[in-house]
Amino acid sequence: MEAIKVVNRRASLKACLSGKKIDKADLIEVLNAARSAPSGKNQQPTRFLVVTDEALIKKLASEAFSEGNAMVGQAPVLIFACANPKDAIARDGQNYYLFDAGLAMENLLLAATDLGLATHVMTGYRETEVKRILALPEEIRVVAATPLACPPQKSYEEAAKDRLAGRTRKGLQEIAFLNTWGKGLA
Ligand SMILES: Cc1cc2nc3c(=O)[nH]c(=O)nc-3n(C[C@H](O)[C@H](O)[C@H](O)COP(=O)(O)O)c2cc1C
Repeated sequence: MEAIKVVNRRASLKACLSGKKIDKADLIEVLNAARSAPSGKNQQPTRFLVVTDEALIKKLASEAFSEGNAMVGQAPVLIFACANPKDAIARDGQNYYLFDAGLAMENLLLAATDLGLATHVMTGYRETEVKRILALPEEIRVVAATPLACPPQKSYEEAAKDRLAGRTRKGLQEIAFLNTWGKGLA
């Protein structure tokens, strides 16, 4: 599938998670896609903690995730993007670990979409609880999480159909300016 098609087909699908096992090769593929992402000075600060232990996933879902995200407990894989902010570049008072992790996570989401797997990037969890349950070192920040699962529907298209149909986005004029701040392209 072409990259732009995949970008446009990606949808957040926490409502479409089945417990079916994920192929190890697919898991490696999405993590390699994440690894290919750019990062400031190529520092590659992002680390991915992949949780496949069913009891641990259920514990995280019930004790760390918000009620609205508790369905991640149904997924066979739960991935956390983490980083030590000290590993990332800082410029003009901005630390880029969140940006680097975001780029890596998006690569992961897109690769999963290409493989027909459901993902849903989220931050609706209590970081302190995630860190406690996973025994993460103090200096590590949990940036975002996603379940990785097969949709129970016949195909990815079927699973993502309603979500994509209901998608809303700001118009191009609102988000892209030409030469002058606030001046739309047209
Ligand atoms: C930083 C971030 C945090 C998010 N946290 C949650 C969350 O806690 N729960 C949730 O259901 N979705 C969460 N989302 C998903 C967004 O709601 C979703 O990406 C947005 O509504 C657009 O929908 P789409 O991903 O299907 O295009 C999060 C997304 C991002 C980027």
